[in-house]
Amino acid sequence: MEIKEIFENNSQWVQEKLGHDPKYFEKLAKGQEPDFLYIGCSDSRVTAESMMGAGPGNVFVHRNIANVVSNLDVNALGVMNYAVQHLRVKHVIVCGHYECGGVKAAMGDADLGIINPWLRNIRDVYRTHQAELDGISDEGDRYRRLVELNVQEQCLNVLNNPDVQSAQKERGLQVHGWVFDIAHGTIIDLVESGKIDFQSVHGKIAGIYKVDKK
Ligand code: CO
Repeated sequence: MEIKEIFENNSQWVQEKLGHDPKYFEKLAKGQEPDFLYIGCSDSRVTAESMMGAGPGNVFVHRNIANVVSNLDVNALGVMNYAVQHLRVKHVIVCGHYECGGVKAAMGDADLGIINPWLRNIRDVYRTHQAELDGISDEGDRYRRLVELNVQEQCLNVLNNPDVQSAQKERGLQVHGWVFDIAHGTIIDLVESGKIDFQSVHGKIAGIYKVDKK
């Protein structure tokens, strides 16, 4: 894809939108009221809005390598605070994906420089679930399972966030753990499909992370 194409595509897109609604961008400029905060991987194949059939204004998006919600990442924490406390989204979605390069790298031992401390987050997920993961003999299956468990742990990181805790208490904010199956194009709800159950894990640990925002 060339840069030139992007600008051509953009003008076409503007015309298309205005064709349906001449005031489309005028309305868009007035503000946003998204229902969803989406936290996903930066991978170019996992396009947050288009795979969800969502348009401008629907989804507040945060992406990084391997959809990590780090407690020391002011970027992720700022996005979460703004989405939950100010935009008052109804749902927070953590979406991992199979074939995730970040998760794969965390399973290997290559020195990736500045990415090492980031991958450490995923290595810690591996450590937390070492017994289960080491018990999976097929490497591909183990890799897919780590993708799923990483979603679970990042959902827990979301639930352990004080802004999320108070929004859950006050207005029933919901947290979802998904995986995007690149080879089939499908979004899978990992809780509904019984692959993870972060709510029951959270039930056991919530007391440790509780912050009472009076
Ligand atoms: Co990825």
